[in-house]
Amino acid sequence: MATQKELDHCYDFVMKLTIESAKIIRDAIQGGKNIETKDGDWDLVTEYDKKIEEILIDGLVKEFPTHKFIGEETVSKTHVLPKLTDAPTWIIDPIDGTTNFVHSFPHACISIALAVNRELEIGIVYNPVLEQMFTARRGRGAYLNGKPIKTSDVKELRHSLICLEASYATIEETRDIILGRLEAFVTLAHGIRTLGSAALTLCYVAMGAAEVYHTDNLYPWDVAAGVLLIREAGGHVVDTSGDDFDLMKPRVLAMGNKKLAPELVKLIKLADIKTHRRRGSDKNTFNNYNGST
Ligand code: IPD
Ligand code: CA
Ligand code: CA
Repeated sequence: MATQKELDHCYDFVMKLTIESAKIIRDAIQGGKNIETKDGDWDLVTEYDKKIEEILIDGLVKEFPTHKFIGEETVSKTHVLPKLTDAPTWIIDPIDGTTNFVHSFPHACISIALAVNRELEIGIVYNPVLEQMFTARRGRGAYLNGKPIKTSDVKELRHSLICLEASYATIEETRDIILGRLEAFVTLAHGIRTLGSAALTLCYVAMGAAEVYHTDNLYPWDVAAGVLLIREAGGHVVDTSGDDFDLMKPRVLAMGNKKLAPELVKLIKLADIKTHRRRGSDKNTFNNYNGST
């Protein structure tokens, strides 16, 4: 159990540490970087991702020696995703939007959250390039640069701006599902955006700049802080299937308000059915083609 006073201390401490470490992003975004790949040619990491995670974890360990950590670059080294326990746990993405950072596209941030008893208590998403500091505490609202933010109350997809991720469409196995959903959204919505930072996109839903954010295939560090921001700003986050959201297996359907949920879940299901039918007919075409040669 953490008292409000303990959480206040965690919040003040991590805010200072985040602002300090984010100077690295601001100073390095325009320059050259050593780029390595992780899960594929599209999954980039730089020396700055590693450096920031090291600074954040070192600082937090000194101040809170009993706390646990789930950090992207640490997990990348061990290939083991730790279990979320009741212990206070910091969930860290040192740079969310690394591809943007590599290309000097100014949407990159530090995303850091604290979970206690498996409940998100603190969420901070900071883009030092555009000086956007998004913060949330459970039960205390969500803020951008200290001013309260609130999600959109648009209740229909045809009046919505919908954000998606295109990155996983580079992988052949997931491509047609993602493109099928994109086709469904494009047909209906006011517009589609794909920003390249899950954490910042969740914050844009939290501030009412977009109505929806959807993607599967993410990790806890991409979404932990942003999910708390959306909840505290009055929005709603569920699993892509419409079931409860699972932070440790995040398939994200985040929206400005609950009323959008049934339409979204139905649309994704229909898009997937259409994709599976197309897959089937592609297979038949292929079989027929083989058979006739
Ligand atoms: C990525 C970003 C991106 C999403 C990728 C993530 P990273 O995180 O959030 O928007 O499409 O799936 O991996 O690698 O920049 O921390
Ligand atoms: Ca990330
Ligand atoms: Ca990252």
